[in-house]
Amino acid sequence: AVRRKLIAANWKMHGLSDDLSWIDAFREALGEAHDRDILVCPPATLLAAFTKACRDVGIATGGQDCAAAQEGAYTGDISARMIADTGARYVIVGHSERRAGHDERDVHVRAKAAAALEAGLVPIVCVGETLEQREAGEAIAVVTNQLGASLPEAAGAQGVVIAYEPVWAIGTGRTPSPEDAEAMHRAIRKVFPGEGAMLRILYGGSVKPENAGDFLSRAEIDGALVGGASLDPEGFARIVNAVW
Ligand code: G3H
Repeated sequence: AVRRKLIAANWKMHGLSDDLSWIDAFREALGEAHDRDILVCPPATLLAAFTKACRDVGIATGGQDCAAAQEGAYTGDISARMIADTGARYVIVGHSERRAGHDERDVHVRAKAAAALEAGLVPIVCVGETLEQREAGEAIAVVTNQLGASLPEAAGAQGVVIAYEPVWAIGTGRTPSPEDAEAMHRAIRKVFPGEGAMLRILYGGSVKPENAGDFLSRAEIDGALVGGASLDPEGFARIVNAVW
């Protein structure tokens, strides 16, 4: 099966209304790029405007998190249905910054992913080991367990995206070798018996224009989830263009 590569930008808590100019700058730097999917996850405050501006230019949009419930007395939360209502098609769930900073555990991530599916969104379910776990030789076991516990029962390989993000590689400038990332992706694919060939698995963690090709050229690596380097439109265009 041929999986289209997906290059996703996660802006995290960056971006004000002026930054909608990123879209034109990115498109100009990108040139013609077919045969790959491009996704931007801006902060929630920009999602509706961003989605509208991207509608006809081949850039999909997504949220960075969603609530497990679709509506109710949850001050400050944003539901998957609200994200879908902006026209966005994806939502990141279980990012390590949410797991670590907001005490989200697998059971919460699973409920959020289920809410995303229910709202018609594609959840991008994030998993990854800590440095301690990698050094103890436990990375593959930790990540496949985390994934199993974070996936709702309704999740099929075609309706979700998995992002493998080693915690120690996020924002640190360190990355696993492409071979180690590929080995992890292979293990993740096995979590979806019979349909693993359809599953898109992104690598995330210190992806930059300089190293993007090393990851994106690998058969097992179906794309990237890019944090810091996605804020620069030219740099993100170079990452997207590193797909061949
Ligand atoms: O979601 C993106 C990841 O957390 C990677 O962030 O590219 O800044 O290391 P980074």
